Amino acid sequence: MGNINNISHVYRGLLERSRAFASFKEEELNIIYSDISQYLSTNDIIFDPMSGCGGGMVYFGRKGYRTINIELNPPSYYWQILINPKNTQAIIEIINELRKTKNTFPNIKEAFSLSDNLFSEVAIKHIKALFELILDNSKDNKSLATALLLPFVSRFANYVKSPTNITHFKQGGLCSYSGWKQDFDSYLEFLSNRLSNDLISYKQKEHFNMMADILQVKLSKKYRFFVTSPPYPNYRDYSKLFKIENFVLDNIILKNKTDFEMMIGSNNVSGKTFGEIHSEKANKFVSELLIKADKLKAKNKKSCSDIKTYYYPYFAQYFYNIQEAYIKLDSMLTDNAIGYIVVNDNITRDIIVPVGASICDIFNNMGYDTVDLDTAQISHYGNIGRAATRMNSKHTRHIIKVWKTK
Ligand SMILES: C[S@@+](CC[C@H](N)C(=O)[O-])C[C@H]1O[C@@H](n2cnc3c(N)ncnc32)[C@H](O)[C@@H]1O
Repeated sequence: MGNINNISHVYRGLLERSRAFASFKEEELNIIYSDISQYLSTNDIIFDPMSGCGGGMVYFGRKGYRTINIELNPPSYYWQILINPKNTQAIIEIINELRKTKNTFPNIKEAFSLSDNLFSEVAIKHIKALFELILDNSKDNKSLATALLLPFVSRFANYVKSPTNITHFKQGGLCSYSGWKQDFDSYLEFLSNRLSNDLISYKQKEHFNMMADILQVKLSKKYRFFVTSPPYPNYRDYSKLFKIENFVLDNIILKNKTDFEMMIGSNNVSGKTFGEIHSEKANKFVSELLIKADKLKAKNKKSCSDIKTYYYPYFAQYFYNIQEAYIKLDSMLTDNAIGYIVVNDNITRDIIVPVGASICDIFNNMGYDTVDLDTAQISHYGNIGRAATRMNSKHTRHIIKVWKTK
């Protein structure tokens, strides 16, 4: 198999292990499957309204069920397109065409670039040419060509990966272009082998992927089953995990910038507002944050003001947005709906963030019954090294089952 060492760790993780930051774990889906399978029949569809890199599609497709997957972050959506078994045949054909005509790969004259930007001018021109080449070999299928190009574009980027934070890329630095053609060919070979191996394991190849904001989207049908996991409230901007690829989409290929305003859980709180939160647990938590801020007022002004200006609005917004997203989700479900939600409660300012309990409140308020199917203690995934051993990085993972009672 080809060597994919020269592309970003995010796509190496996806290509080698099908995992990205915050993906479903197999063991979590096994727990869900052992319960949901009692209700499922052959043609059923499982809905994931915030589907990330498509962990649910892969798992349930292998078990023989159809899925529908909504995702806001474009690179995550394009990854789903790339691995959707419905597209595998076409992608392998594009790869075969490209590899047959390696001599047509566009040339870069420069051996390297040193830049403060994410991409040098030369790299931008080159990515455009490479995209055109893929498009020419894809019968002009822009979506497949984009999906195929994106995992490789970090090969041309000037960036430094953060040693402590897996979602952070610092823009600027050195990028060597030499050997890129070999790397591209290796990536294509790796992907082709992986997709053809995966294809064998799918019992169901009908899956639908949609790039949309759950709060805005309209669907023509209602669904009975959903399996999902919300973004974690951990001040990480999920769009930044794919900063390199979003730059390419926004500035080189698609040129219509995605609005990340509704990216739930993202760390940008300034200028945003939130409405009334109905969950008792979430309200208790945000009030505790403010009480903590008041207690800190005398001895630590900075911590007090951090809570008031950042953490309080961040969490109030998070809980409000999750509530609105699930109210919207409920409108897309039938009256005998059954769902499973994988969530993590982390700790902030030494207070447990009650994500699981608040989600139960949200569903109870909409007339659902809820039960905590499984609970596990996990260490934080995201901070590498010393930070990971701190108390604030301990998480409790819950698998919540919700069902509508008529
Ligand atoms: C925890 S991840 C889901 C991971 C997924 N279960 C997997 O296995 O790959 C949550 C996802 O919600 C997405 N998201 C956040 N806000 C959204 C919105 N308003 N509409 C749709 N998706 C959203 C994020 O981009 C992120 O990919």
